[in-house]
This record gives sequence, C-alpha cells and structure tokens, in this order.
Amino acid sequence: MDEQKLNRTIAIFGCGEVGATLAYTLVLNPICNEVILVDPKTDLLEAQVRDLNDATFRGNNGTRVRAGTPRDAAQADIIVITAGAKQKPGESRLSLLSRNLNILRTIFSAMQPINPHAIALLVANPVDILTYFARKLSGLPESQVLGTGTTLDSARLRGVLAQRAEVAPNSIDAYVLGEHGDSQFIAWSSITIGTTPLEQALPEGHFTPNFKQEIAEHTRGAAAAIIASKGCTAYGIGNIAASICKYILYDVRCVRPLSYYQPDLECCLSMPAVIGRKGIVRAMPMRLDEGERRELEACAGHLRGVIDGVEM
Ligand code: 2OP
Repeated sequence: MDEQKLNRTIAIFGCGEVGATLAYTLVLNPICNEVILVDPKTDLLEAQVRDLNDATFRGNNGTRVRAGTPRDAAQADIIVITAGAKQKPGESRLSLLSRNLNILRTIFSAMQPINPHAIALLVANPVDILTYFARKLSGLPESQVLGTGTTLDSARLRGVLAQRAEVAPNSIDAYVLGEHGDSQFIAWSSITIGTTPLEQALPEGHFTPNFKQEIAEHTRGAAAAIIASKGCTAYGIGNIAASICKYILYDVRCVRPLSYYQPDLECCLSMPAVIGRKGIVRAMPMRLDEGERRELEACAGHLRGVIDGVEM
C-alpha cells in the first residue's frame, strides 16, 4: 500500500458487540482518521454511530465515525469483518460456518470493486475457514487477507502463564498455533520467560505434572466460559483487532500468530508472521518439536476437511 494512498480509514462490517467494541477501541486510542460502520440493521447502525461520536467529541481526537455502504467500505485501507452469527453457549465456532460464509459472500460481492491496496481482516468465526474463502471472494493478493487467528488465544495463554510464573505477560514469549478453535495447540517447546525456557523460569514447585494440560484446557476453553455467562466475548477480540489495525496502519512489523494461507498445508491457520502495512509481510519460521509438528499436521487436516465440505 503506497503512502499517498493511505487515507487511514478503517471499515467495520457488523456493529454488534465485537464490531462496536473494536470501533470504540479505535476511538479511544485514535490511530485512524475515519471509522466506517456497515450493518444492514440500520437503526442499530445509526445508534452506534451517534453513541461512538459522543466519545470522539469528548476526546476531540478528530476520529470521525460514520455509517457507510459496502461500496464506501471497499475503499478503506483496512476492511474488518466482524459480521456474523455468534456462538451460543455450548456451540462450537465451526457450527457458525454456513451462516457466516453466506454473509461473507454477500459482503464481498456488494463491495466489488475493492481498493487493491486494502487489507481484509477477518474476525468473525470460524475465522480460519472464513479467511481461506475471503482470499477467493475478495480477489485481494494473498498477503492482504488475514484473520485474527490465535492472537487472542496466545494473549490468554500469556495471561495465565504470567499469573503462574508471577511475571508480567509481556515478558513471556508464548504461542498458541493452528486453529482458532478446538484443534489449536500450544508450542510449549519454544515458550520462554525473558530468555529462560518456561520450566526453568517457573517458581519452585509450580511446574506440576498436569501443568500443561491445565493451561491448555484453560486457554482453549476461555471463550466458552465467557460466552456461557455473558453470551459473547467482545473486549478481548475487539482489542486484538484494534492492535492489528495499528500494526497495519503504522507498518509496525511486529510478529504475531495470525491466520493466513499456508501453502504447504493448503489451508489458513495461525503461524507467526510479520504484520505491517502490506498485511502479512513475511512468515516467521518457527522451530516445532516432533509432537508439535504432528499437532500442526492434524490441525491442518481437520481444517482441510472442513474446507472440502463447503460448496462454493
Ligand atoms: C473468542 O475466542 C469467540 O472466538 C471468540 O473470544
């Protein structure tokens, strides 16, 4: 994306809990000139725009929030897709596939033609499968279509490890990889605190026999626990999506486990990548041990099976 083309506009499809939380985060931490909200529920859309602008006026930060059409959104620098059905308590992310893929098809066909420099950021679930099909539906270059993937799961992992290790989360390098869903796995072999491998870095006696299983279950089940009590998750994913927008607009080039197309695995899933103005700048190779490699292959096989079952 050339500098002169950057209008610092972020379009968000869907102004439900996740889309509105993302918009609010962008207003509170101004990184863009304009947020365009798109949603067929026009009453909700107008109300969210008014409510959000009340926040911008206080801060006087110049970020404009407005309602727009898919054609408006198509010219944005970043197009975020949060629109879709959300999981009900006990429902898996994959069970949303047919409804949310139909919404995705509608969105991308209503947008054409899309700004060729735009970055499409998928948030709606099942995010890995939707990212896979968004590549085809958008017509954008591969590197410009990505999903939030396991960035949120990895943040959850670092949070719980920080509590157990009694250190700050940002001193922990830890990745959840693969599907933003049940077949995700933790790359235990590469987790460090500071530069110390996890097991040596934990306080005496903290690395109990079922430590890994406990942590993995907590991380994998975090969303379901929240959804069971409040009906959705929004703050975690909204904040993650806002941070990815910042990495793109400011060409930050940090490394995050984002969902993007893996040619060798023929699906989209989360592996570490450098994220910047052109989207996925480059994959960041990661050493996996034999068990982790097997988990990655199993996850990819599971996702390919879902993809093969979809009639385009
Ligand atoms: C989350 O993990 C529901 O995918 C959403 O919070």
